Amino acid sequence: MKDFSEIKEQVKAKIEEVKDNASLSEFWQSYLGKQGVIQGLMKEMKNVPPEEKPSFGKAVNEVREWAQGLYAQKQSQVKELELKARYEREAIDVTMPAMKRDIGNLHPITLIKHQMIDVFAGMGFEVFEGPEIEDDDHNFTRLNVLKDHPSRDMQDTFYLTEELLLRTHTSPGQIRTMDTHKPPIKVLVPGKVFRSDSDATHSPMFSQMEGLVVDKGITLCDLQGMLDKFVQEIFGSGTKTRLRPSYFPFTEPSVEVDVSCFECGGKGCSLCKGTGWIEVLGGGVVNKKVLENCGIDSEVYSGLAFGIGIERITMLKYGISNMGVLFRNEQDFLEQFKA
Ligand code: PHE
Repeated sequence: MKDFSEIKEQVKAKIEEVKDNASLSEFWQSYLGKQGVIQGLMKEMKNVPPEEKPSFGKAVNEVREWAQGLYAQKQSQVKELELKARYEREAIDVTMPAMKRDIGNLHPITLIKHQMIDVFAGMGFEVFEGPEIEDDDHNFTRLNVLKDHPSRDMQDTFYLTEELLLRTHTSPGQIRTMDTHKPPIKVLVPGKVFRSDSDATHSPMFSQMEGLVVDKGITLCDLQGMLDKFVQEIFGSGTKTRLRPSYFPFTEPSVEVDVSCFECGGKGCSLCKGTGWIEVLGGGVVNKKVLENCGIDSEVYSGLAFGIGIERITMLKYGISNMGVLFRNEQDFLEQFKA
């Protein structure tokens, strides 16, 4: 009668070698599986004399149970090892500094544009946008800038064809709103405009914000009142406006609007070039001819209009002396406007 000690030694040695799931299942196949060594012992039964069969069977069962015990023990060890290895593999160092994610911000021109819209929206203005490619009619003729009139030379125009051009100002927005809306009208037309002009304070592409009000009894006083409110909101509550006579073909009378210097309070400094005043926009009472060109009865209605350079306001507000920085989009510059 064998005590299977040889097999048991083998099993002991083999189970020692098991380190992972793969070698564990190999162990099962070799010893406990259908083709395994222990199962093979049962097949020996036919060669065992009948009187020894019961004790032989019992002994084989004992070996099997013993090996199964070792297997189960090993299985839970392997499980623990694999789990430990997985934890190590997937470990996260929560003390590691987080990856920095840069968040963009609005461009200063956009910031100021939004501020300007906010101020005028508070006075009941609606926003309208016209096309950047305009025709001669909307950009000039119907604004009372007739062909061959010297006032055409006030703006250096980029022509695309005889009739089409890049709008030189947002004033064609006046015509487009009066064509489609009946008074009372109160609109803002922000947008890009184009002129063949380039130096420290001029760029071939810049932005304007047009304002147009048409109703009964609109006067220059309404313009000054609205602009007073506007400059106080943008430059501070003590800011005043000053209107100087000027000329635009589409307004009569026309004015150039100055604000009291918000840097020195009007005493005179380098920003206002010693005058105490800074020019910020042009405007006036809408020329009766322009109203008539849009089918509005100028005996019943009157209007006011203004055009503000958005870059100009942005430069004044942030103390920028060279317009180029607004268009070069260098990150160091732009990041200074993070909210
Ligand atoms: N369109 C004029 C310009 O670009 C500004 C302006 C607008 C003046 C409206 C009067 C009224 O210079």
